[in-house]
Amino acid sequence: MNSARKTYIIANWKMNFTPGEASLYLHRLQSRVERIPRNIQLVLAPSLISLQSLSLQINRRQFKLAAQNFNQNDFGAYTGEVSVMQLRGFVDYAICGHSERRYKFHETDKEIGEKVAAAIRNGLTPILCIGETADERKNHETATAIYAQLAGGLHDVSEEDISKVIIAYEPVWAISSNKGARPANPGDIEEATALIRKHISRIYGKTTAEEISILYGGSVNKDTAGGFLDVKGVDGLLIGNASLVADSFCAIIDIAKGKTNER
Ligand code: PGA
Repeated sequence: MNSARKTYIIANWKMNFTPGEASLYLHRLQSRVERIPRNIQLVLAPSLISLQSLSLQINRRQFKLAAQNFNQNDFGAYTGEVSVMQLRGFVDYAICGHSERRYKFHETDKEIGEKVAAAIRNGLTPILCIGETADERKNHETATAIYAQLAGGLHDVSEEDISKVIIAYEPVWAISSNKGARPANPGDIEEATALIRKHISRIYGKTTAEEISILYGGSVNKDTAGGFLDVKGVDGLLIGNASLVADSFCAIIDIAKGKTNER
């Protein structure tokens, strides 16, 4: 964690909870999470179907909402799709390029770049997820994979807009729902965040590279969250499984609060 940058704790609920369950869960979280310091931002990414109702229920001083996915076009003949323009009244953040979108739904870097641009065009903060697969790591292609995903995802992001982007480093092999998943070790994460800042520095300059927020995601739980937050270059966490249980998610929030108090 870096004292100049905000800490983000982001819950990706994936395809879990009915709208009723999501509402009950938010109620529980809001009654347990007390005052949030200004240097911490809590974000919840529920299913699309719950966004509208949660946006009415949410205490924005505690939490903000994020879309897990959206269509990059603002409107048009795209049956079954929802655009970020349609969502912008409900959410402040938009997750782009999560590895489940890349590998289960075959989203390309080009499409992900269009989504990042669409989020910015509609006044939202894109959270661009990147990360190598197990095979890429084994074949020493981690840097190549990270650079390619950054180049694609940030293709249409101007110098003026880059400060609006958050990057989440999520190695695919560390995501808890993937077979044989294991959390990344601090050295791997530090190395990856340094690669990301190097790429940003080359394209947007050193100051931007120092200012951009980079999160870690992959098998984070209440026992490991503190260690990940201590890794140099990490400004927060993107949490899947452990964000679905109030006890564990609230414990992670408390750890982040403790760390920002220490600064
Ligand atoms: P996990 O998921 O915390 O369950 O590993 C993280 C993610 O998919 O963003």
